[in-house]
Amino acid sequence: MRDPSLLMRPPGPPPLSLKTPIAVLKYLKSISDIAQLVRRRFEEYGDIYYARLGKSEIYVIRRPEHVRQVFQVQGSRYGKATQGTSARLLREFLGDGLLNSNGDFWKTQRRMINPAFRKDMLTSHAPMMVEATRAMLDRWSAGEVRDVSDEMMGLTLSIATKAFFDHDIEGIRTVAEAMDTIRDGFTSPSLRLPPWVPSPARRRVERALKDMDDLIYGLIDARTRELASGVTEDRQDLLSVMVRLTGEDAGSPMSRKLLRDELMTLMVAGHETTSHALTWTFYLLGEHPEVESKLMEELREVLGGRAPTVDDLKRLPWLEAVLKESMRLYPPAYVVSRVAEEDAELDEYVVPAGAEVIVWLYWTHRDPRWWPEPLAFRPERFSAEHESEIPKGAYVPFAAGTRSCIGKRFAMMEAQLILAAVLQRFQLERVPGHPVVPRRAVTMSPKHGMKMRLIPRA
Ligand code: HEM
Repeated sequence: MRDPSLLMRPPGPPPLSLKTPIAVLKYLKSISDIAQLVRRRFEEYGDIYYARLGKSEIYVIRRPEHVRQVFQVQGSRYGKATQGTSARLLREFLGDGLLNSNGDFWKTQRRMINPAFRKDMLTSHAPMMVEATRAMLDRWSAGEVRDVSDEMMGLTLSIATKAFFDHDIEGIRTVAEAMDTIRDGFTSPSLRLPPWVPSPARRRVERALKDMDDLIYGLIDARTRELASGVTEDRQDLLSVMVRLTGEDAGSPMSRKLLRDELMTLMVAGHETTSHALTWTFYLLGEHPEVESKLMEELREVLGGRAPTVDDLKRLPWLEAVLKESMRLYPPAYVVSRVAEEDAELDEYVVPAGAEVIVWLYWTHRDPRWWPEPLAFRPERFSAEHESEIPKGAYVPFAAGTRSCIGKRFAMMEAQLILAAVLQRFQLERVPGHPVVPRRAVTMSPKHGMKMRLIPRA
């Protein structure tokens, strides 16, 4: 390995020293609005900047060509972090699931899970997605105010459990609460301490993980027995596909623990992001009546009041453009990180093995060089006419390359069907004065939820 002291590094802030209480306070204040801090640094140092945090070397990027290099062109040189608190927590919660694993192990896992995301498998879930949305809408009444953020979280969780387990999980509320606790655990300061340090937050997370484990292992065992008895050969849900892979015929059987890890990963990765994308879209539509009118026109013309199906989606280009533009402004996974497993390059710089690259795609998506008037909500950027003008690497809400989101098509289909079905029945109007502030944890959600009034369509 080369001598790190000889490397030329991009410019960046001086190494952080947290030796005095004042320095710690200053640091905490500066990261309280991390996105603005990062923006100021890009302005000061340019498109790549270098930061040192303890022993960690960090390269922060936003330029589309650099994003493409990291995700795609040199993608094989990068993996997921194995060191550090976030990596430890992810492993504690999700074990060796897809999101965490690296190298040949990851490759084998991804190859095994891919069939469950084949187009025909995905489309088979569409009627269930619309049905779940209808069930939610039947609980909504004209004129009432609901937190759309909570509603979407509940809806996407129930869709995920049905699609992954083909099972109406009793007490979905308990699952939702356990998921909430686990999600909060990622950002809880006391969980950043070593695992043997007791705290109320740690106890809560451990209980939630145990509840989820009991549920998932119970489902795995029941399905294993059912499939062994040969009663339901044709089940196509993810659990059944994966349980079959653990059978004797499969080349590389998946252990029961690994099955749990993958299912838990998909549960966590597979509902929260889509829920946030939907909530932000409802918010943006509420603020831009002209965009919403055009969408309603399209829905009326193509669907004429009947429920949407997956075949309709290709005839609803404005619906897709609205969703894409919403994920440009509010990408649920607003930042993605990679660790160089071998030396890689970014322009004239060497990114040494072990260094971390943080892709601030939130700022890539809001850069006026690639997005004129970046703060304007303009779905036409994604029309058939204009989409090809977007520079490669400038729009990456699902990342890109071999480690891009496995659930991208699932999420797009789900979000479009839900949007269409909800908008056919209700117009959503933000309650005046309800504050809209992004909360940046692992994903980006509205910090205060999204209180909206439900106005029935004529
Ligand atoms: C709007 C919704 C979604 C967004 C914006 C999103 C975004 C992303 C992004 C940016 C990554 C890369 C993360 C990284 O490299 O650290 C990713 C990975 C992943 N996503 Fe999604 N995702 C969404 C929905 C879903 C759904 C519905 C599922 C499952 C059904 C899912 C499952 C996964 C998994 C398993 C990975 C890890 C893939 C791997 O490393 O091989 N995601 N997602």
